[in-house]
Amino acid sequence: MDKAQSDYTTFARVMHWAMALLILSTIPVGFLMVQEGLSRPFQNSLYIYHKNTGVLIFVMAVIRLSYRGLRPAPPLPDHIPVWQQRAAHASHMALYVLILAMPVAGYIRVVAGGFPIETLNAIGFPKLAPRSDAVAEIAKSAHFYGSYLITGIVGVHVLAALQHGLIKRDGVFSRMWPPYRRGTR
Ligand code: HEM
Ligand code: HEM
Repeated sequence: MDKAQSDYTTFARVMHWAMALLILSTIPVGFLMVQEGLSRPFQNSLYIYHKNTGVLIFVMAVIRLSYRGLRPAPPLPDHIPVWQQRAAHASHMALYVLILAMPVAGYIRVVAGGFPIETLNAIGFPKLAPRSDAVAEIAKSAHFYGSYLITGIVGVHVLAALQHGLIKRDGVFSRMWPPYRRGTR
């Protein structure tokens, strides 16, 4: 198959890696900021980073998915067993759902709880959720369970990608990696 058709586009790769960096920092910051015993200023900085990066992740996810609608993902090579192709597709869809749903749940949890989202407040963005402790509590639970789900799926995703890149060296990793030293990765 033609290389241009079997690889992700430059835009898809830039979005993937930029978002991977943001998400792989947002998750540990989220787990860290809810720990007890942190100094107040440090904890506040973590919350500010987490909330505002989470909003950025949502905006980027919408752009990325809209673009994917115009330029669908390239099909996996034929040598990948069908069950693995289906598993890869299902896990990618789950990741897309989660990078939209996690920020939405986080947003509702914070706005319904009466807390600020600094960047959105600064640009005068309207509050899209009512002030309600009950609503905040439901969103908090959804965000909590979702955080373990996304951590697990990202973990499997990274291990699968590394297995392709370092052990199988079957070219799947190169589809997403920046296009230098092309070959068996
Ligand atoms: C993809 C985006 C996001 C991911 C992966 C993520 C992940 C996490 C994780 C791992 C935790 C710690 C586990 C927990 O206690 O719930 C957490 C907590 C939290 N997150 Fe997020 N988050 C995201 C987006 C957001 C956004 C956009 C907001 C708000 C604007 C937000 C607000 C919070 C808050 C307030 C907590 C503390 C727990 C609570 O009191 O509800 N998150 N998040
Ligand atoms: C070190 C971290 C990561 C590595 C090594 C990695 C690697 C890869 C690779 C090689 C692909 C292409 C798979 C294929 O050819 O079908 C891919 C696709 C994808 N990755 Fe990652 N990834 C990482 C982090 C993440 C994170 C944190 C997320 C989001 C939560 C993510 C979401 C996705 C999605 C949604 C796709 C499918 C793209 C599409 O078909 O539109 N990745 N990743």
